[in-house]
Amino acid sequence: MAAAKPKAAYVCAECGVEHAKWQGQCAACGRWDAVREVAIDPARQSGGYAGAAPQVTRLREVEAAAREWLPTGMAELDRVLGGGLAPGAVVLMGGDPGAGKSTLLLQVAAALSGRVTVLYVTGEESLEQIAERARRLQLPLDDLLAAAETRVEAVAALIAEHRPRVVIVDSIQVMQVAASTSAPGSVTQVRESAAALTRIAKQTQTAVVLVGHVTKEGGLAGPKVLEHMIDCFVMLDSPAGTRFRTLRGHKNRFGPVNELGVFAMTEGGIKEVANPSAIFLQRPEEMSPGSVVTVTWEGTRPLLVELQALVDDAQGGYGKRLAVGLDPQRLGMHLAALHRHCGLSLADQDVFANVVGGVRIMETGADMALVAAVLSSFRNRPLPRDLVCFGEIGLTGEVRPVPNGQERLREAQKHGFTLAIAPRANLPRRPIGGIEAHGVTTLSQTLEALSGLG
Ligand code: TYD
Ligand code: MG
Repeated sequence: MAAAKPKAAYVCAECGVEHAKWQGQCAACGRWDAVREVAIDPARQSGGYAGAAPQVTRLREVEAAAREWLPTGMAELDRVLGGGLAPGAVVLMGGDPGAGKSTLLLQVAAALSGRVTVLYVTGEESLEQIAERARRLQLPLDDLLAAAETRVEAVAALIAEHRPRVVIVDSIQVMQVAASTSAPGSVTQVRESAAALTRIAKQTQTAVVLVGHVTKEGGLAGPKVLEHMIDCFVMLDSPAGTRFRTLRGHKNRFGPVNELGVFAMTEGGIKEVANPSAIFLQRPEEMSPGSVVTVTWEGTRPLLVELQALVDDAQGGYGKRLAVGLDPQRLGMHLAALHRHCGLSLADQDVFANVVGGVRIMETGADMALVAAVLSSFRNRPLPRDLVCFGEIGLTGEVRPVPNGQERLREAQKHGFTLAIAPRANLPRRPIGGIEAHGVTTLSQTLEALSGLG
């Protein structure tokens, strides 16, 4: 005999996890007083898999859907998406309010609407606001379909009627499924809306882009629970105080992750930055101590960025450590390695490090530049303006090679750098004209090479 089906579920409003019974604290996310009783619609309980006959297929017989990628026309976006929008793909675009998600996607929607049918669903702004913005940006609007909707069922009906190739949903936070019993805006609603839209995307082979707002805590409101359903997750970051925007892929079922796209927010909308190295390198003629340039590798291309460090006497007790745009844990590791392997203690110093321009470096190639910037500030001696450093530093004081060493050196040379300190194994067999590269294998060799310069 089948077990009696429950009439209620207990769902955490914070993380969306279901529990067998009510509890004061969610066992999954630890939040108190967040578990809510949700009545389960009997119709939904008996539906689902019960009626449909199960089927198996030999995978060999499944036709690979000819993935007709649809380039968005914005190379920086296509780079992060892995070539464009695939049919049936669900892309989640996260970012702070004001980052430019709506602007970017409206521009993309308008540009695509000349080639394919595009539906822009706005749940936050009115159609008048969207149209006003589009006109101000002089976007082509003749063929762009738009709807002010928050009901997922209504969006499904619009998709069935107009058969768009691309649907933008701005934003997933305001969407709701009528059949759901949970409150609009709750994590459960967000999850159910995304699940329903994902199903529609797969069934109709429509590419769906969901906009998601980031919460103050840094997590996307709900999207931790969405990440497993969607195909791609990209984040539009807006570093404080700059007009630059970086778009980074965090998950991509169709292509590489960690690609970086760079944009600038301008009066005339969001613009692509074709040569990002150049914008992050606007430095004064006179170099100050604590500044050095590194070549990071972002996805499939090198990027030159300036690192800065400030080392200063700590006011009593142990020195503070702070890193912005870099992993603070790695900063701590490098300081420990400097002490243990080079006898240099910064225990009584505050050490601050920052990546200029608000870029976040996600790889270890910046280790050596971080150490160089820290030393330069500590000794109060500037490093040469035309120097770049890259390489990974290990806990045993060794300098390890990083991927694409030669391409990094070439990029530096292309931008006028004439000196490099890099892992020995990364140096090309034949020197690259115009740039003199010192190869090092240990942290102490790095220090020697640096003191010969600054
Ligand atoms: P928006 O796309 O509404 O951000 P999001 O959807 O991520 O919340 O962008 C809003 C910000 O962008 C706002 O601060 C104004 C600015 N902006 C420009 O600088 N130029 C423009 O052409 C537009 C449309 C907006
Ligand atoms: Mg918006």
